[in-house]
Formats: sequence, structure tokens, C-alpha cells
Amino acid sequence: MSPKPVILDVDPGHDDAVAIMMACGSPGLDLRAVTTVAGNATLPKTTRNALRILSLIGHTDVPVGAGAPEPLERPLRTAEDIHGESGMDGPEIPEPTFEVNKLDAVEVMADAIQESSEPVTLIPVGPLTNIATFLRKYPDLKGRISRVSLMGGSMGLGNTTPAAEFNVYVDPEAAREVFRSGLPITMCGLDVTHQAGAGRTERDRLRGIGEVGEVVAGFLDFFAGTYERVFGFDAPPLHDPVAVAAVLEPGLLKTRRMNVEVECESDLTRGETVCDFHGVTGRPPNAEVGVGLDREAFFDLLLDSLKRL
Ligand code: BDR
Ligand code: CA
Repeated sequence: MSPKPVILDVDPGHDDAVAIMMACGSPGLDLRAVTTVAGNATLPKTTRNALRILSLIGHTDVPVGAGAPEPLERPLRTAEDIHGESGMDGPEIPEPTFEVNKLDAVEVMADAIQESSEPVTLIPVGPLTNIATFLRKYPDLKGRISRVSLMGGSMGLGNTTPAAEFNVYVDPEAAREVFRSGLPITMCGLDVTHQAGAGRTERDRLRGIGEVGEVVAGFLDFFAGTYERVFGFDAPPLHDPVAVAAVLEPGLLKTRRMNVEVECESDLTRGETVCDFHGVTGRPPNAEVGVGLDREAFFDLLLDSLKRL
């Protein structure tokens, strides 16, 4: 089977960095573009980080388009407490060896989709601002998107407020538009990404695979420190790589079809993904929501991809 064409929309971010590396190292995926959005850090920082990661692993042929510097309707909230000042603190990695595309994220996405002979899968792992903007600007290209495998939301607990996960909390209006778009959606929320915690054992396994593994383990050591301080546990979840794994090996993720609506108004629960698990509202399902992850197979797949870099 030919590799699946994908576009990654990222806000690196330690776990975003690992998602980029995983996508580049996977023979089952053809990474057509990386687009950046403000989220974990401001847009100049997330863009620099995406360029630095691709440079480090020698994938400088992937076009990188910079996208939205702020959410659709709200001021930006960043996550220095989790990802550090640069958005990707930890091991020092060199400056990028190539430049951001002269076209912005939405145009880079449009080009990549138009140039692909097959429909493209979008993997957004930051706030959904770029995806919503793309759908507004290019409604005619919707039919060329085969699926959106996103990291965001939660059926239960939040990580930014008691009710809301970070990516959806930062731009709930954009998330609402994406969930209402009618596109096939796989939601990799905290319920499953918290099953992908990188504990000491996984970090040691990573260190064992060579130079790239060392860098990833170094990032995750930093990430573990902030998780310990903020959340009280030191096995930081590899949130964003789960959304990549769900495209590569859909069988890894157990999903359930249900309706997901995004709360945009309430001060108390803004950014909550209201998941109709039991189908009590009668609203039609609009997403395959991750409810379980084969953790062992996930880490095997991750290591296998990183080893190839
Ligand atoms: C999400 O928020 C970011 O901090 C991570 O990169 C991930 O995409 C987890 O809530
Ligand atoms: Ca992210």
C-alpha cells in the first residue's frame, strides 16, 4: 500500500516535536507539509521549533507554513509552565537550516491538498485555528480531506481547567467549527493520550536507539519535570504522537462514535468537549472518540518510526 498523505498542524511543544519525528520516520505516512499555529508558545517560537526539529532530522524538504498568531476570537494563552520559555526547552538543538515557506499555513495546506492525487489526512495537534480558517477559505477542498485525526478534548477531566483540555480551551470557536464541519474526525483526547505516558522505562528504551532517541528522551526528561511540578506525576503523556499513531495503525485506538459539541460561552466550562457517550441527546454522531489505547503497541510503533530517522 502506498504511504498515506498527511499534513501535520503543530505548536511545538515537546510532544508535537515527537509527533513530527514519528511522522517523518514512518514508511506508512507521506508527510506533505507541516503548518504551525500559536499555542504552547507564540507563533514565531512554534515555527522556529518546527523548523529546528525538521532540520535536526534532515527532513528539510517538507514545506513549513506559519499560520495563525492568535485564536479566532480570543487572546492567546500559552503554556510556558509545561513547555518552557522557548516552547521546547530541554536539550539544546541547533538553529534551523532552512526557512519557513513564503506562503502561510492555509495556502501551504491548500497547495499540498491540491497537489495530492489522493485525499489527504489532516493531523492537527495544537489549537484548531488554522484548520477552521482553512475550512472557511477553501470549502471546495473539503472533499479532498479524508479524515481529521486531532489531539484535543476529553470525555472526562481537563488539563487546563477542570473541564477543558489545552488545545480546545485555547481556541474553542475554532474547535466548534471543526467538529461541526461534517468531516470524518478521530478525537484523540486526554482519555487516551494519558495512556501514552512516557515513564522512566520508555525514556530508557528511547535512549537505547541512538542519537534521535537521546534527543527525544532529553525532551521528555524536561517534560517529565514540568508534569511532576504541575500535575504531580512524572510520566508525561505523548499526547500528539497518539494522533499520528491513530492514522498509521488505526487498530491501536479503540474508538466509539458519538456526538461532540464544544462549549464556548460558559466561564466555568469553556473549551469542554461535551461527548454524548450514551447518545442521550439524539444529536447525530460527528466523531470517532478514542476510548482506549494499546499502550504497548503504541510505544513499539513510536520506537520503530524513530529508529528509521
Ligand atoms: C496538548 O496541549 C499541548 O500542551 C500539547 O502539545 C498537546 O497538544 C495536550 O493538552
Ligand atoms: Ca500540541
